[in-house]
Amino acid sequence: MNDTTSFHLEAARDGILRLVQLTDCHIFADAESRLLGMDTRDSLRAVCAAIEREQPARDALLATGDLSQDGSPASYEFLAQQLDALGTPVFALAGNHDDPPTMARHFRGDRINPARRVLSSGWQIVMLDSTLPDEVHGEVSAAELEFLDAAVGEHPERHVLVCLHHQAIDTGSRWIDRKGLRGQAELGARIRAHANVRGVVWGHVHQEAHHRLDDIEWMSTPSTCVQFKPGSEDFAADTAAPGYRSLALHADGRIDTAVHRLKNFGFESGNGVRAV
Ligand SMILES: [Fe+2]
Repeated sequence: MNDTTSFHLEAARDGILRLVQLTDCHIFADAESRLLGMDTRDSLRAVCAAIEREQPARDALLATGDLSQDGSPASYEFLAQQLDALGTPVFALAGNHDDPPTMARHFRGDRINPARRVLSSGWQIVMLDSTLPDEVHGEVSAAELEFLDAAVGEHPERHVLVCLHHQAIDTGSRWIDRKGLRGQAELGARIRAHANVRGVVWGHVHQEAHHRLDDIEWMSTPSTCVQFKPGSEDFAADTAAPGYRSLALHADGRIDTAVHRLKNFGFESGNGVRAV
């Protein structure tokens, strides 16, 4: 997970880079375990099948953390098998539930790439680590901010998409914003200081949001499993279906994006393990 080298992704023929973001898969070592009553392996399988069907021209996958629920080798082996089978490069970040050393050892496959910078079609994608050991909330360290500055500074002519696990902008649910990203203002200022950052995407909040501020798209993406109720003061699961986000990065810096949810996927939350 510490590889800061960049990966050159072959440009799409039409000059549009098509990405799929999936996040917060919360996979357990034990296939029988459930998250608030949900079989997270089953929902990830269903989301991967939907991606296979609905995004045939995808160039790469972005997996933005909380991929595992328990940081176990078995959870990463399952994840690697599922994501590798989609046949496109996978770039991944750890979330607060992940165990980065175990993830580095066991989240492996032909298409899983440890690079934290991706260059393609006039774009650079920068993966920022926002996790803190043994904490639910996150922070982008001074070293990560420098990494962002250096990456952007090296390719000032490229448009930039920034990925991280925790919310770069509060989501409006007090309980999850308290466990969100410390130093949001500083990160925001660093991002805005670079005129070529076009978008920021994250997970953690298990719900969709999209704001356009200062000519930048700020986006959160649903989990591949349990969703959180938007606007709730206290923890509450939502009955919305699992999903993912598609992103089409155009050569002129425009981003077309949409959230896609599973159809016919019923879920009533039960008692169980907390998801955040
Ligand atoms: Fe999560």
